[in-house]
Amino acid sequence: MGVEIRVEGLTKSFGRQTIWQDVSLTLPAGEVSVLLGPSGTGKSVFLKTLVGLLKPDRGHIWIGDRDLPYLPEAQLYDTRKLFGVLFQDGALFGSMNLFDNIAFPLREHTKKSESEVKRIVMEKMDMVGLLGAEGKLPGEISGGMKKRAGLARALVLDPEILLVDEPDSGLDPVRTAYLNQLIVDLNAQIGATFLIVTHDINTARTVPDNIGLLFRRELVMFGPREMLLSSEEPVVRQFLNARRVGPIGMSEEKDVSELEAEAKMGLEVGKLPPIPPQLMPSDGRVRAGQHAPGAWCAAHGVTPPPGSFIDDVGRNWVEEWPRYVASMSPSPAAGGQAAPGAPRPGGGTY
Ligand SMILES: Nc1ncnc2c1ncn2[C@@H]1O[C@H](COP(=O)(O)OP(=O)(O)O)[C@@H](O)[C@H]1O
Ligand SMILES: [Mg+2]
Repeated sequence: MGVEIRVEGLTKSFGRQTIWQDVSLTLPAGEVSVLLGPSGTGKSVFLKTLVGLLKPDRGHIWIGDRDLPYLPEAQLYDTRKLFGVLFQDGALFGSMNLFDNIAFPLREHTKKSESEVKRIVMEKMDMVGLLGAEGKLPGEISGGMKKRAGLARALVLDPEILLVDEPDSGLDPVRTAYLNQLIVDLNAQIGATFLIVTHDINTARTVPDNIGLLFRRELVMFGPREMLLSSEEPVVRQFLNARRVGPIGMSEEKDVSELEAEAKMGLEVGKLPPIPPQLMPSDGRVRAGQHAPGAWCAAHGVTPPPGSFIDDVGRNWVEEWPRYVASMSPSPAAGGQAAPGAPRPGGGTY
């Protein structure tokens, strides 16, 4: 149920163009992580490298004792089956209806009978809220439904790792909110390790357990959501605040003279707003990878900005959390619930 992925010193270039270098991070088993970064920083390339579609120049991608980039073809093929991927463009076959699109990996990679295929496809379509749309063609449905169909297809082989490239691109804020809720619910249900690429700040602030930020061909920071949301690092602050002032410029980074001019004018990256509470699964279960709100800040002596963890109906989740956890019965599928202050699966300290 969800595996840890350890990325060490990963570097990728195309010809003489280095996309990113020396990227190291651990995606904790069963947790939701988000990878942020300005357009063109190589987020999609990172996902494709993780699943073995692109080869890195250097570095390691450990899943257990398997180092993905260096596996012999047969083993790589086997390891790939651990992944479910929703690519940025959805990649649905335009001439196939949703049922056949979603059934495709099952028919291609398994020897399941058609009745078994049907059972699985309907189950996954139900999970993403698409029951009844089996006969629709991709061209006949909205962007949000396409993302859902892509998600259902990514789920049919019961992945241990789910990679999702910009689930929110091209969606309006309300559809994005529904999709984010679906992602949280799916994580609670299947317990797989999730990595979501986005540049939607609201998604990054409320969905994941961990956030990483790619900028200037490097991973600037990766860690618990609260760590990045309370970070003093200028790039992290600027990005999570969506500000013009700061090291990130219009076409990638600002030069020294621009930064000096900003400093002379006394401009600085704004303070971060309060840390919003994390999205909870809609069926009320506690996700195995979700840690207690504020626990990271408390453990690291960080004072969160005033109003942190208070949601839009005024509940204070730092106070609400123990009650919330206590009210949930342990879910057998999720392997029990995370008690407040419990050690993180994947080995954290809070
Ligand atoms: N197959 C490829 N061959 C050469 N260059 C590529 C290839 N795929 C992506 N790139 C380049 O890598 C950079 C990062 O692309 P991408 O990962 O799509 O960025 P992001 O997803 O962060 O917007 C871009 O400059 C893009 O042109
Ligand atoms: Mg991309």
